[in-house]
Amino acid sequence: MTRSVTLADDPQGRGRKRYSPLSMALHWIIALLIFVQIGLGWYFNEVLPDHSPIQDRFQDIHVSLGLTTLMLILIRVGSRIVIPVPALPQDLSPWESRLAQVVHVLLYVLMLGLPLSGWLFLTMRQEPITFWGVNWPALPGMEAFTGSAHRTFVRSVKHFHVFTLIWAAWVVIALHVAGALKHQLDGHPVLWRMIPFLKARA
Ligand code: HEM
Ligand code: HEM
Repeated sequence: MTRSVTLADDPQGRGRKRYSPLSMALHWIIALLIFVQIGLGWYFNEVLPDHSPIQDRFQDIHVSLGLTTLMLILIRVGSRIVIPVPALPQDLSPWESRLAQVVHVLLYVLMLGLPLSGWLFLTMRQEPITFWGVNWPALPGMEAFTGSAHRTFVRSVKHFHVFTLIWAAWVVIALHVAGALKHQLDGHPVLWRMIPFLKARA
């Protein structure tokens, strides 16, 4: 079953056909940073010797890059609210439109959850946090956890950051890429909407 997009489906898009240059730039920079961060996190945590100076150095880079990513994500969320985005392709079936919307929301949740959980983890471990060499504040309100509640929370947050969210990210990103490629190949060319130098197909 197919359907057409009406004004009611596109209350803010105002007929925009592709994402704005700012949205495209942020989409690809943030995607790249997330992949780099997953690789970097795995490398310093699993490959480098524990408690070595080189591991500390790489952790500092991971933290600073992660906080930089968080700032870019917040700019992206802000620009998503202010700048209209194009409506989904007109003749997707209702379940495809719904799935695409759910995946987009999950991607935003992951983009925020990944750096915030890292920040929360270091806050709970009461380690100094630096952002490219400058002191960065701990998240407020975490002093409430003490004793065994504190230890349990630290373990849970660590597991959430290094395991749960990473696996969730792989699954959701795979769905997202598969969806984009499927639409691209089945006559709904969505890639040009997000890739600056691609020409629109008729
Ligand atoms: C960490 C990796 C990625 C994240 C977090 C991500 C996130 C997102 C989000 C949130 C949107 C929706 C934009 C909005 O409406 O505000 C989007 C759109 C899009 N993404 Fe990604 N993305 C990632 C990787 C990729 C990759 C590898 C591709 C390549 C196939 C891709 C292709 C697209 C396309 C074509 C759209 C536009 C879809 C449409 O026209 O509705 N993304 N992405
Ligand atoms: C896009 C953002 C981020 C991603 C994708 C990410 C991903 C990862 C990954 C994949 C690991 C290691 C997993 C493994 O052991 O295999 C890790 C570890 C770690 N991350 Fe992140 N991270 C991000 C942001 C942050 C931020 C903002 C902070 C702190 C402010 C942070 C602090 C840490 C720490 C301290 C570890 C080591 C955990 C341990 O001691 O076991 N991360 N991260």
